[in-house]
Amino acid sequence: MAAASTTIKVAPLPNWSERIGALKNIPPVLRFVWDAAPGIVVSNLSFRVAAALIPLSILAVTRFIVDSVTNHQMRHVPLSHMFWWMVLLEFVLAGVATFMARIIEFCDTTLADRFTRHISLKLMTHAAKLDLMSYEDPVFYDKLERARAQGVDRVQMLQVGGRLIQEVITTVSLAAAIFIFSKLLLLGLIICVVPAFLGETHFGFMNYSLSYRQTAGRRELDYLRVLGGAKESAKELKLFGLAPFLMGRYSELADELYHQTKDLSKRRLTFGSLLALLGLVGYYGSYAYVIYGAVIGTISVGVMVYLSGAIAAASANIQAVFTSFSGITNQALFMTDLLEFFAVKPKISSKASAMPAPKPIRTGFEFKNVSFKYPGSSRIVLKNVNFKLGPTERIAIVGENGQGKTTLVKLLTRLYDPTEGQILLDGKDLRDYDLESLWKEIGVIFQDFMRYEMTAAENIAVGRIEDLDNQFRIRAAANKSLAEHTIRRLPNGFDQVLGCRFEGGVDLSGGEWQKIALARAYLRDAQLLILDEPTAALDARSEHEVFQRFAELTKGKMSLLISHRFSTVRMADRVLVLADGEIAEEGKHDQLMKSGGQYAEMFELQAANYR
Ligand SMILES: Nc1ncnc2c1ncn2[C@@H]1O[C@H](COP(=O)(O)OP(=O)(O)OP(=O)(O)O)[C@@H](O)[C@H]1O
Ligand SMILES: [Mg+2]
Repeated sequence: MAAASTTIKVAPLPNWSERIGALKNIPPVLRFVWDAAPGIVVSNLSFRVAAALIPLSILAVTRFIVDSVTNHQMRHVPLSHMFWWMVLLEFVLAGVATFMARIIEFCDTTLADRFTRHISLKLMTHAAKLDLMSYEDPVFYDKLERARAQGVDRVQMLQVGGRLIQEVITTVSLAAAIFIFSKLLLLGLIICVVPAFLGETHFGFMNYSLSYRQTAGRRELDYLRVLGGAKESAKELKLFGLAPFLMGRYSELADELYHQTKDLSKRRLTFGSLLALLGLVGYYGSYAYVIYGAVIGTISVGVMVYLSGAIAAASANIQAVFTSFSGITNQALFMTDLLEFFAVKPKISSKASAMPAPKPIRTGFEFKNVSFKYPGSSRIVLKNVNFKLGPTERIAIVGENGQGKTTLVKLLTRLYDPTEGQILLDGKDLRDYDLESLWKEIGVIFQDFMRYEMTAAENIAVGRIEDLDNQFRIRAAANKSLAEHTIRRLPNGFDQVLGCRFEGGVDLSGGEWQKIALARAYLRDAQLLILDEPTAALDARSEHEVFQRFAELTKGKMSLLISHRFSTVRMADRVLVLADGEIAEEGKHDQLMKSGGQYAEMFELQAANYR
């Protein structure tokens, strides 16, 4: 399917300087780890350092035991008084090693949990600060998705990091033992392991680059999988018989990704095995060299056991160090996205010298020659819009689909800034006000309001979360929005979990959800109330009642109402007609009807349907 293959973006393979550059991610990541749980980090490292020295200690004890026994057998040298203590010591060391491995595992698991928690909270905090426009940008969205996965997936980096430190210490201690015996031996060992290291690193980076290129594809896969099993799509999937179509699309895309991954894994397997073989040659070569020394009598049997043990352990550890290291650089590369995500700064933010929003608002809002284009789009959605919204005024905006009504609300609430022109509040630019204090003064319910799968009370309380425990205010808000009747009928009333995601949840009808969402706006002690088609799902009687209420409750207050139903629009003090991003007409209902323009035409069209 053409659509599937075009979704996979091609990112250039990272070159060596980029690969090494990825290491610069390590310090900030270590900082996250430290911040997540300093105590666990310290104990984890201490245990690892101690555990790292155990292998060499065991070998040294073994050497003593073997040499004592051979001397005793061959040359009838009496056993030292320490002998049996040393046997016991070896047992104790082995026991301590086992015990420490468990403790380290425990530290790793708890650290991983704390890290995930810490990163998730950081992600959420940062995501909440970002502009709405970021979420509507697919490139940003990919980054967010990768960052989200990394917060959780990259916890293995912690284990690898800790293990690396441990392996390095073990290797250095063993290498020192080998070095004292023969420099050449150590050099040979290292030379045989380097190719394997380079191979590992290379494939690690290839793997990263592939995952990067597959992000968009994987996102589409996730989407299809969710679509295939979501409550929202279930009705249409069944009745339109869409399952085979979705499955076909899914398997085609999944196969494509699978083949890419498989090709790389195959190459990794082949080269990896060859390079590992080289490492093995190094190991057995050194081993043979040591045995030869023992045979011709330059070293004792104890030293042979000691050295061959050290070689075995060192070569395993050197390999492990290289693997862990390339693992870390690889993981660090993955962390790039997480750090890049944290580096994205919101464009819409409060200035340093921002003022608090006026309380009370005196002259209201004013749009002055406001034009707007969505970022990345060339279409001008709003063109040179001018209007005022006074502090006691109720304005309604009407217009056909896609004329820019919701966009206008997004500008008024400063979710976006105008491309040209200015929006003033009490004569000052909206950008001069502190964002949070501005948002406190606005209560808005969008067309696509959220349905939180939480209790009815919580669904209302999100409008003013400070009131979460204030049952009285929540009930009053529900009463104002006419949601109270619906909620009272629920088995658990205000404590009823809504939606079907969780067990015991009860789903509501579209109109019932809408009344609950409306209550959020009433709960908010806002000076400006905005409803963007809040009644589209309400039946005729409910709608009439809701608007009667709204009109009463907003009398003498500032409000903005977007609706396609003219029966409700006429309750407004003034109506703006938006057409092609411009204000085509403006005035009271009666005036607009008299002037016989677009408004009158739309009104007649709707009224005709009812006759
Ligand atoms: N995030 C976005 N990015 C790019 N273009 C957008 C975005 N949101 C909306 N648009 C475009 O802006 C135009 C105005 O959209 P808007 O949602 O403001 O219309 P509306 O008047 O509220 O329509 P409706 O009556 O259907 O709710 C539309 O043509 C739409 O395609
Ligand atoms: Mg809209």
